[in-house]
Amino acid sequence: MSDNIGNEYKKIKTAYEYIRKKTDVVPHIAVVLGSGLGEFCECIENPSIIDYHDIPDFPVSTVAGHKGRFVFGHINNIPVAAMQGRVHYYEGYSMQQTVMPIRLLQELGCDILMLTNAAGGINPTFRAGDFMVIRDQISSFVPSPLIGENYPTGTRFPDMSNIYDNKLSLDIVHCAAGLGIPVKEGIYIQLSGPNYESPAEVRMCRMLGADAVGMSTASEAVAAVHCGMKVCGISFISNLACGISPVPLDHKEVGEAAAKAAPMFNKLIKEFICACDK
Ligand code: HPA
Repeated sequence: MSDNIGNEYKKIKTAYEYIRKKTDVVPHIAVVLGSGLGEFCECIENPSIIDYHDIPDFPVSTVAGHKGRFVFGHINNIPVAAMQGRVHYYEGYSMQQTVMPIRLLQELGCDILMLTNAAGGINPTFRAGDFMVIRDQISSFVPSPLIGENYPTGTRFPDMSNIYDNKLSLDIVHCAAGLGIPVKEGIYIQLSGPNYESPAEVRMCRMLGADAVGMSTASEAVAAVHCGMKVCGISFISNLACGISPVPLDHKEVGEAAAKAAPMFNKLIKEFICACDK
């Protein structure tokens, strides 16, 4: 094992030991909460809260609207972990650093990872406020988090033909239907950010088959599949992407739109977690 991977693994082990001293919850499901969607944590019973700042060597987000903490606890007796905030490649972290929390969650026992984000709608049938179940992704415009010596929990050339687990994705669709929450399904594309896309880039993304664009998630999904987790994801369409929206984009809008959608979003995630146990 090279020093590089050795150091990464050591950091994960150190973070693991720290968290294990704070909570004995072994999460079955972890949810990574995107911009403005962190309120979901209030649904978690008997929460143990661990600030990212307090975890040795843990990457801490610098983005407004990202709280930066883990919440461990239960939903209907199902052990869960939620990440209120994540770090992004555009903050200057390496891709390997951005996926360190995902590898840590796997080490802590998570079998299922739900990734959520706020995204710009590219599909012309989408509206701000929609939810999109992520069925596949394009991550070719950002470096793979697997570049470098192979991380020991997965193979060198992992298959990516079913990144978003089909059954879990259909479970989300069924839960949404049961709750009367309309959801779209589609392809998420990750770009580096932090600038929003130009209209020409949004047209390019559409031509490539993407339905929603954002600055996270796809690289986390690759790392999660590589370490054997089942993955599913929901994009909250906080705005129409540039060129589709008639007005310039403003990051404040993303948080405001997410705050409005939070009650429905929380219900959907909670229902999905309960369904996962059946
Ligand atoms: N583009 C990229 N990322 C985003 C957007 C967008 O329009 N909205 C929220 N995150």
